[in-house]
Amino acid sequence: MTADEKAGFQLFNGKGNCNSCHVDGRGTALTPGQTDNTNTGSARPTFTCFGSANEGLPLNPRDAFYYQTTPDFFGFTGNPFGFGYRDLGMGTFLRSGFGAAPNPNDTWTPLAPMVDGQFQVSSARNVAMAPLVCPTTEAPGPFFQKEFFHNGYIKSLKQLVHFYNTRDTSFAQPVTSGHCAAGTIERVTCWPMPEVRNNLDTTTGMLGLTDTEENQIVAFLMTLTDGFTRPYPDINTFTGVCMTCNPATDPNCSPSRQGNGSLIPTPPLPPCASAICGVAPVPNPPIP
Ligand code: HEC
Repeated sequence: MTADEKAGFQLFNGKGNCNSCHVDGRGTALTPGQTDNTNTGSARPTFTCFGSANEGLPLNPRDAFYYQTTPDFFGFTGNPFGFGYRDLGMGTFLRSGFGAAPNPNDTWTPLAPMVDGQFQVSSARNVAMAPLVCPTTEAPGPFFQKEFFHNGYIKSLKQLVHFYNTRDTSFAQPVTSGHCAAGTIERVTCWPMPEVRNNLDTTTGMLGLTDTEENQIVAFLMTLTDGFTRPYPDINTFTGVCMTCNPATDPNCSPSRQGNGSLIPTPPLPPCASAICGVAPVPNPPIP
């Protein structure tokens, strides 16, 4: 590990508090400056606790699902609610609600309001994996454009860590994506409001990491790429096109701003459809 990767590892288990959900089998040293001296524990380094949390992602109007409001060739309408759709995650699953597989255990149903907005903690393993020809996820590249978190709102690992670090600071704005105030930059100095505010995780959001510390966590995340490549046995066979940009001419050509050139304004949101937010036991507080 390089010095920055090592520092990122300490931050992942310490000031960043990432290890409390993305468990790596070691201790969590929460005091700033404290070094993690714990031995590797019994937990396997899966980099997920297999739990769930609501990280407060803004609604992503670039998600094709919002536009699937008319029947397709087979007569199937993916999302009759359009922008009245809200992704309640685990809550919809426990209600056996719209789009969810049936909840296998009725006794869990009353717990739905406690998990609205929560999604399973993804493993951080292989999060930076990319084809060898465009080996990074970060601009200027040549990079491989990934979509992070459940709705793809976050476009780079730098943005991912910056989001955890600053979501609940003065960058939090009561706007939807595409409507950040003039003078602010979406995903850099403006975070649109969460799609679902219920059960928002507050162990993240205001971590006090410096810009350098954010970059060190990114460097650490990039070390979590292993050699295991199924179902793509040979990553050398990637035939797609790598992304590139020119920082001299494109203001969005940086890990912090990549993807900002293709933001679209979220339309005025209709209230959450009753087939989603009106299913008992209803979300508490109600979802707008
Ligand atoms: C309270 C639990 C929690 C904490 C603390 C936490 N995460 Fe996460 N993490 C999640 C959840 C939940 C998801 C999936 C969220 C989603 O898709 O909406 C996730 C997803 C991720 C992903 C995968 C994204 C993808 O699309 O593959 C990475 C990488 C990640 N987190 C890194 C971090 C880092 C770095 C930190 C510390 C700065 C951190 N997490 C702190 C719960 C947590």
